[in-house]
Amino acid sequence: AVGGTVADLKPVSLAEPLLLKAVRGDDVDRPPVWLMRQAGRYMKSYQMICEKHPSFRERSENVDLVVEISLQPWKVFKPDGVILFSDILTPLSGMNIPFDIVKGKGPVIFDPLRTDADVDKVREFDPRESVPYVGEALTILRKEVNNEAAVLGFVGAPFTLASYVVEGGSSKHFSKIKRLAFSQPKVLHALLQKFTTSMAKYIQYQADNGAQAVQIFDSWATELSPVDFEEFSLPYLKQIVYTVKQTHPDLPLILYASGSGGLLERLPLTGVDVVSLDWTVDMAEGRRRLGSNVAVQGNIDPGVLFGSKEFITGRINDTVRKAGRGKHILNLGHGIVVGTPEENVAHFFEVAKGIRY
Ligand code: CP3
Repeated sequence: AVGGTVADLKPVSLAEPLLLKAVRGDDVDRPPVWLMRQAGRYMKSYQMICEKHPSFRERSENVDLVVEISLQPWKVFKPDGVILFSDILTPLSGMNIPFDIVKGKGPVIFDPLRTDADVDKVREFDPRESVPYVGEALTILRKEVNNEAAVLGFVGAPFTLASYVVEGGSSKHFSKIKRLAFSQPKVLHALLQKFTTSMAKYIQYQADNGAQAVQIFDSWATELSPVDFEEFSLPYLKQIVYTVKQTHPDLPLILYASGSGGLLERLPLTGVDVVSLDWTVDMAEGRRRLGSNVAVQGNIDPGVLFGSKEFITGRINDTVRKAGRGKHILNLGHGIVVGTPEENVAHFFEVAKGIRY
């Protein structure tokens, strides 16, 4: 048994995915579990699709492939959340920002944005027109998964998206976006506002088409010092949450910011329902620092899945115990790593789904 009740536990209602109940604070008998990046390169079945369809954009923009890839981990591991196979950059072409995801190199933005004029050319996103395959795929996933798990959508947070389009791709020092932030903040704010409006619309679109919860990835916000987070990320996250809650008050929103240990107390200020912790934070301490209003997700080191089965079991039990009963989604602290043995992933899910508080 696990101690430490964190919220008033309400009676269980059936016919609803465990993940949604847990987020709301219902009295669930185990934490729901899924893995960030659970569809992808560590799976042989995904690698086989990559051989036939070498373009990431094709794999992530063709309805049949998106559905097939999203369902691959579902069929094998039966996680409690089935995340759409897509990318945080997928909306960019619909915003007039051409990009590709290149094998071995990662995201590439062909014409990085640096000036006022560049930002002016960014179009506001119309999901129905630009990414109809996302809505279609979510609708099919909802039918296939049939409330046995929650179908999860996701978007990139404004600062993280801005960092890609200003840097031109992945970055080590974030010098270009920081140059913009600290020498022409107005230009960056204009760009962040466009992403904010667009991503709020995109979340609403995903929910209208079948997503039962949506995760916001602010993967690079933690490159910012706390004062800069308060200027360049927090207000936009708040605005997204506020806008979405106007139309979808019951849609759970999950916020993930890797390396966010220094920002934890600020993250619930966004208004999200769940904060996803990375593994550099102790789960029990993270829980205390976040307060009891938000649920927590996480936070096992993805590297643990390279350990022995006994080791993996130990870390699952440790994390669940530290998180306490209820309002916890068991997950990794970041995406699953390429090369992770599939049998260890199977073991992870078996142990996780066998837990009883
Ligand atoms: O969780 C899931 O299974 C859904 C799929 C998903 C992808 N990207 C597929 C993908 C999700 C949730 C993302 C989000 C994403 N994309 C983030 C936020 C999460 C995080 O890791 O912090 C970020 C920063 C990106 C941008 C991006 N896309 C990067 C850095 C890369 C890796 C480049 C590389 O070659 O390693 C991508 C490509 C990408 N997106 C892959 C996958 C499975 C790998 C390329 C491939 O499979 O061909």
